[in-house]
Amino acid sequence: MDHGLLQIDRIRREIRTVRIGKRIEYVETTTSTNDEAWRHVDVGEADGLVVFSEYQSAGRGRLGRQWQAPRGAGLLCSVVLTENPSDDDDASRVLTGGDLVLLSAVAVCDAIGVCTDVTAKIKWPNDIRVSGRKAGGILVESRTQPGGDIAYVVGIGINCLQHEGHLASLPKTPATSLDLQSVSAVDRTALAIALLGELDRWLARPRTWSGEDLRSAWMAHAEPMGQRIRVQHAGKIVSGMMIDVDPAAALVVQVDEGGVRAFDAATTTVLPG
Ligand code: BTN
Repeated sequence: MDHGLLQIDRIRREIRTVRIGKRIEYVETTTSTNDEAWRHVDVGEADGLVVFSEYQSAGRGRLGRQWQAPRGAGLLCSVVLTENPSDDDDASRVLTGGDLVLLSAVAVCDAIGVCTDVTAKIKWPNDIRVSGRKAGGILVESRTQPGGDIAYVVGIGINCLQHEGHLASLPKTPATSLDLQSVSAVDRTALAIALLGELDRWLARPRTWSGEDLRSAWMAHAEPMGQRIRVQHAGKIVSGMMIDVDPAAALVVQVDEGGVRAFDAATTTVLPG
């Protein structure tokens, strides 16, 4: 059961993670949990820190879009990670922003699977969808730090308790919530605990997985490949068939004009229809 506000003490007590959630912060209201996370990055060692909030007045999504959720209805959080690109011991495994988008999407789907009777799917690159409607999203931001480390903030929003009325006002993308899709009540605190656990499975050090492990986990949750799509990239619209995702978070498309092209997540939009 969801007992009103997120139960932060319960999250702190029940997580069994190594890296993610070493510190957990909570702000009832903020502009964006990503803003809160960056404030922590700016004042010092923040790797593994997680910020939760009940309400964002300026939540943001990919490609400059807004992310809106009524107070207390979403699971809104941001995770701080710092990676050292010249780490000798682990050089081939330094995480990229693309890795983080893919693994976070897998973690969100797995956490939803653990805590609810809902099956969530990934629409490339960062949409979490249930029954073809958007139920969550991931926004990865990065900044190079003065010492050369790269700090990442992984912002995750999951629609949990929204009703039809809440979602009707959202622009264009058809949306849903876990509560609307589930036969059982959705416990946001349990979902938060599961999410931190799933993220930690990918992010705890030392890392034990390969790029191919991540690609196949992502493919197992992805909306079916082989679908026809249109993508907007570099001011052009390209039609074709989705055939794969590469570990750098590029979507691989068999384009109608001929040939196979990989489209980078940061600069490509998948258009509806
Ligand atoms: C998208 O679908 O474009 C990404 C949406 C990401 C939303 C989350 S909510 C928590 C975090 N704070 C933000 O301002 N954005 C992310």
